[in-house]
Amino acid sequence: MKLLEATKENINHSVEVLKAGGLVAFPTETVYGLGADGLNDIAVSKIFEAKQRPSFNPLILHVSSIEMLNDIAEFSNEKILRLAEKFWPGPLTFILKKKDIVPYIVTSGLETVAVRMPDNKIALELINKLGKPIAAPSANSFSKLSPTKAEHVAKQLGDKVDVILNGGNCNVGVESTIIEVTNDSQILLRPGGVAKEEIEKLIGELSESKFNSDSPNSPGQLKIHYAPNIPIYFYDEEKLKLFVNKRIGGIFFNEVKDEKKFTDLKLLSAKGDLHEAAANLFSYLHDMENLDLDIILVEPIEKIGLGAAIMDRLSKAVNKFI
Ligand code: TXA
Ligand code: MG
Repeated sequence: MKLLEATKENINHSVEVLKAGGLVAFPTETVYGLGADGLNDIAVSKIFEAKQRPSFNPLILHVSSIEMLNDIAEFSNEKILRLAEKFWPGPLTFILKKKDIVPYIVTSGLETVAVRMPDNKIALELINKLGKPIAAPSANSFSKLSPTKAEHVAKQLGDKVDVILNGGNCNVGVESTIIEVTNDSQILLRPGGVAKEEIEKLIGELSESKFNSDSPNSPGQLKIHYAPNIPIYFYDEEKLKLFVNKRIGGIFFNEVKDEKKFTDLKLLSAKGDLHEAAANLFSYLHDMENLDLDIILVEPIEKIGLGAAIMDRLSKAVNKFI
C-alpha cells in the first residue's frame, strides 16, 4: 500500500494504477471510496475481495461529466435532469437504467446502475483522466465504519489497496442520498448528504423504501438482488440424475463434468481464477436465461476469498427454488 498526497504526479500515477486494473482509494465529499475502473470487470471483482464482504452488492459508478454518464446509463427523465442540474456535483445518487457497456458485476446482475458525480476536485480529476467511470463503494471493510480520512482507509484496508490518495477530511461525512425516480414512482432508497426535503422541493414527495429482494413488485419496494428466472440448483451427480429429458445449463468452475448431459455449458474460469469467475458470474446467468433452458445446475465452489461471495449469491438464487 502507498499512502500518497493528492499531488498532480500522484493523481497521474493513480490513473495508471486504475488503467492497469488496480485499486485506488480516493476522497469524495461524502466518504472515501474504494475505486476501480468501472468498466473493467476483473478490476471491479478486486473491490469485493478487498472489502472482505462475503457477498456482492451493487456499486455506484462515479462520473466526471454528463457525456460520461450518457455512455453508461439512460439519463432522460425530466425530474432527474432537474435534480442533477441543482445538486451535481454533489452527494446525490440516481438509480438509472444501465447500458450494455456496464459489466453486470458492477450492478450485481441488475439492469439498473447507481450513478453520481462527486463534489471533490481530486475525485473529478481522477475520473476525468481515466476517461471512464470509477466504481467505488465506501472504503471501509465489511461491517466497519465509513472512512472520512485517508488514515481510516489505511487502518482498515491498507494492505489490500494499491494506492490511497490523501485528500484530507471529507466535508459532508455521510454517504450520498440515493433515489430512484421513474415515470411511475419516486423513492428514497438511502438518506444521505442531500436532505429529502431539498429534493422534494424540486420534484414533489418521495416515498421511502426498505430494500426488499423478495417482493420486488409491491409498492415502494425494490429488488436489489438479481436471481435468474429459471430454476437453479447446485450440481452434483445425484441431482443430475433427477432431471431426465430436460434442457439443462451447466455452470462449472474450471472443469466440465458430465458434459453430454448439458444443453449449454460455461466455465467460470478455465484457469481457476476467482477474479475471473466473479467477473463472469452474473453475465453467465443472464446468458443462460436467454437460452430457453429448463434448469441451471451450478457447481459449488470453495468458500475462500471471492469464492465466499460467489457462493453467497448462488445460495440465495438456489434458495428461491427449494
Ligand atoms: O457517498 C457515497 O455514496 C459513497 C461514496 C464513495 O461515493 N459510496 C457509497 O457506496 O456509499 P456503497 O457501495 O457503500 O453504497 C452504495 C449503495 C448500496 O447500499 C447499494 O445497495 C446501493 O447503493 N445500490 C447500488 N446500485 C444499486 C441499484 N442498481 N439499485 C438499488 N440500489 C443500489
Ligand atoms: Mg458502504
